[in-house]
Amino acid sequence: MPDLWQDAMDHAVTLARKAGEIVKDALQNDLKIMCKSSSVDLVTKTDQNVEQLIITSVKEKFPEHSFIGEESVAAGEPCVLTENPTWIVDPVDGTTNFVHGYPFVAISIGFAVNKMLEFGVVYSCIEDKMYTARKEKGAFCNGQPLQVSDQKEINQSIIATEFGSNRDPDAVDKIFSSMRKILCLPVHGIRGVGSAAINMCLVASGCVEAYYEIGIHCWDVAAAAVIVSEAGGVLMDVEGGPMDLMSRRVLAANNNIIGERIVKEIEAFSAVRDDAP
Ligand code: IPD
Repeated sequence: MPDLWQDAMDHAVTLARKAGEIVKDALQNDLKIMCKSSSVDLVTKTDQNVEQLIITSVKEKFPEHSFIGEESVAAGEPCVLTENPTWIVDPVDGTTNFVHGYPFVAISIGFAVNKMLEFGVVYSCIEDKMYTARKEKGAFCNGQPLQVSDQKEINQSIIATEFGSNRDPDAVDKIFSSMRKILCLPVHGIRGVGSAAINMCLVASGCVEAYYEIGIHCWDVAAAAVIVSEAGGVLMDVEGGPMDLMSRRVLAANNNIIGERIVKEIEAFSAVRDDAP
């Protein structure tokens, strides 16, 4: 059977690497920082330029394809996943890290056809780690195969999560309460590198057993979702059941035992869906 999407994936890798160079160069200069939904939801000129570069290049090569891009959506483009081949792009995942020079920043490019994710590319550019995965073809970091941890005991696990950019006190209370309950299970530790995509790649790499967050967007997790599942991991909603890419909630785990154990401790809440009209 012809490999329909390999060309698109190769192009995504090339673009992610090029974007990574731009992001690293920008770190040497003054960043033009702006706010989006609130004073802690940051964006820079680099985020916008990198997204433009990716979208312009993909449009030239694949004129029929559709896009969901973080900065395009912020500028008013719709965030709707159709059956059409769709590139789901976060030009700089970990913008707050980027602004502060905290060294975990990724370019995240996911690709879906018929609403199913086909491949994911996450380039952690400061670490120079290129994570790639293609449906049914495995997950890799710089060409080396990835495999999730085989840990089944929650009290031998590290769990990753983030505070995100929601500062509503009720939501923050739930975030802390969930973390407190998970920490006291007990687990070996709680971590978070400030990039949803990299946290998920760490699950795929076997360094942490699970990552969960409420408030992420589809562009933060689309690419890394393929990487986690191709590394043998599972994706679910924070209340259990299948992950819904547009729901702004994600739980990625090495296996169902760890995932479902964490579900029991999470105080779930809802965020406005990415595809809300
Ligand atoms: C953010 C990062 C962060 C997560 C936020 C995301 P951005 O993405 O992934 O780790 O906590 O929920 O929005 O805004 O830097 O692309």
